[in-house]
Amino acid sequence: MKYVEKRGKEYIPSKKGKQISLAEKNVYQQANKPILFWEKLAKKGIDWIKPFTKTYEQKGNSFSWFKDGQLNLCYNAVDRNLGNPDTPAIIFIPENPKEKKQVISYFELYKKVNQAAALLKKEGIQKGDVVAIYMPPISEALIFMLACARIGAIHSIVFSAFSPDALRTRIKDGKAKLLITSNYYYRKGIKVNLIKNAKKACRRIKIKKIIIDRAKTGQFFKENKFEIIKPEPMNAEDIAFILYTSGTTGKPKGVMHAVGGYTVQAYWSCRYIFNLKRNETMWCTADIGWITGHTYACYGPLLNNATTILYEGFPIYPKEDRFMKIIKQNKVNVFYTAPTALRLFAMKDQGYTKKYNLDSLKVLGTVGEPIDQATWNWFFKKVGRSRCPLIDTYWQTETGSAMLTSLAGHGPFIPSYAGKPFPGVTYAVINNKSKKLKANKEGLLVQLPPFCPSLIRGVWNDKKRYGGYFLNGTYLAGDNCFYDSKGNFRILGRSDDIIKVAGHRMSTAEIENAITSLPKVVEAAIVGKPDKIRGAVPVAFIKVKRKISKEKILDIVSKKIGPIAKPAEIYFVNDIPKTRSGKMMRRILKSLLQGEEIKNTTTMINPKSIQEIQEILKKK
Ligand code: WT7
Repeated sequence: MKYVEKRGKEYIPSKKGKQISLAEKNVYQQANKPILFWEKLAKKGIDWIKPFTKTYEQKGNSFSWFKDGQLNLCYNAVDRNLGNPDTPAIIFIPENPKEKKQVISYFELYKKVNQAAALLKKEGIQKGDVVAIYMPPISEALIFMLACARIGAIHSIVFSAFSPDALRTRIKDGKAKLLITSNYYYRKGIKVNLIKNAKKACRRIKIKKIIIDRAKTGQFFKENKFEIIKPEPMNAEDIAFILYTSGTTGKPKGVMHAVGGYTVQAYWSCRYIFNLKRNETMWCTADIGWITGHTYACYGPLLNNATTILYEGFPIYPKEDRFMKIIKQNKVNVFYTAPTALRLFAMKDQGYTKKYNLDSLKVLGTVGEPIDQATWNWFFKKVGRSRCPLIDTYWQTETGSAMLTSLAGHGPFIPSYAGKPFPGVTYAVINNKSKKLKANKEGLLVQLPPFCPSLIRGVWNDKKRYGGYFLNGTYLAGDNCFYDSKGNFRILGRSDDIIKVAGHRMSTAEIENAITSLPKVVEAAIVGKPDKIRGAVPVAFIKVKRKISKEKILDIVSKKIGPIAKPAEIYFVNDIPKTRSGKMMRRILKSLLQGEEIKNTTTMINPKSIQEIQEILKKK
């Protein structure tokens, strides 16, 4: 079935594509009045324990949605789907192709989530307590996320590839009362010892632990008998979960999401963007340690009574066609992944893509970083077989759900454009004087009020940093952008010192802090350098007191953050380019890396450093 057709340089939904659209034909008109629009969606899509009467309120940076309403996220994702008890909720696929996949129906999920909720309660966890989850994507990870949501505990998931130090920082900042982890998991065929990291992270911290045996995943709760734990009535503005992400300082920030707004927008975004229907299957390849995994590998599909695929391992293990096998064997309808994974798949393409029947696919999506035209085309043709809409979704940990995106049944699908704001969400592009810019002018991307329901409500323990997101009444995304005459937005990359490495958000300051923690280092500057597969990689310029090996630098970064943050290149320099006020000029380092000429050095205190660095780079 063909769901798209070509129109000039873009693609639009075919007649069939429009016919099956779950987003009504006039959805953008409906959204002209955003508050009313969300009020209707909230009532129609979500089951409320206590209906709300106050839809939106705002005072300065603080705003609320559905404030006097009560609901439970887990109830909406699990209990209300019990009318459809045998539909698979989760399909867990182990990395080793010889290991059997695991199918958990909605009824079984209900049972296990209740058992998990009972266990959390037994461990003394109450509403409002923080529970840290440091786990690979196995079924129990989702079960415990849902169990937290059921009893009103706040989960704080830490990506399993983060180091013990990184986990420790997040446990301490969140004051987590319990840590859920597993003994090991598989990645690239290798057993990763997770429990060792977890134990290291918890040294001298008083925290309870629940440890899942990876060998028995899916079996942790195997009893048939279970006690029903009543879903906790949550105020719409209660915190659903926190998720740490990198900012522009060395310290990660705990992004807070509200139960009501998050539930409403997770449900509707999944339905409207991906056209995901009940009983259909979605595979979002993001790890649960990232917001994409939260919203589109767990809550979004389950709120929609669909099936979610959880794959444990490396996308091209044991071979490049693994993802195609998974799509085919599980009849995946929606495949949502990251440009970095796609570049890996495309690089290995010597015809393997032709071997598989991928007729089940209806919608393709990408997220995490800009997708280049070549990769877009490869994905569209080789995986989508030129019949599926390819949706580039732009969003952030802070926005909770996709913001700039096409809708499967509406289009247009334009390579390298993320698309229009989701209905009911307003974005603009401003200059550095906060003046709104017209079409085709580059500037800073901002969201305008009314702020959308799933937007960040606070930074855990840090009011000031939350305030930093807002500029003259707008929410500042931190990305450079422009939109075309038809209102389609194109993201040009970060406007701050954050780099996206293989789609993962890294703070240059965090990596620099790790390196400067070595006594022999005076200072360090990290900049992103374009990379064919990973989009960007960190490169380090380091000034040292005494000689130190590159290995020591790599080790400390792995230890403090994780191997994903390791610099791809390290240069020892005598001086780092600086402004007269002493600020490191990462912009200049970036230009030098790309072999660009530096013309204006008037604001610099040490223009000589440029020549020296040019020499060093030349020698390489
Ligand atoms: C940053 C947010 C939200 C999903 C995962 C990332 C970049 C995200 C796109 C896209 C261009 C994108 C932005 C954004 N980004 N999606 N489709 N096109 N850039 O969440 O880790 O919070 O990172 O990722 O720079 O600000 P995150």
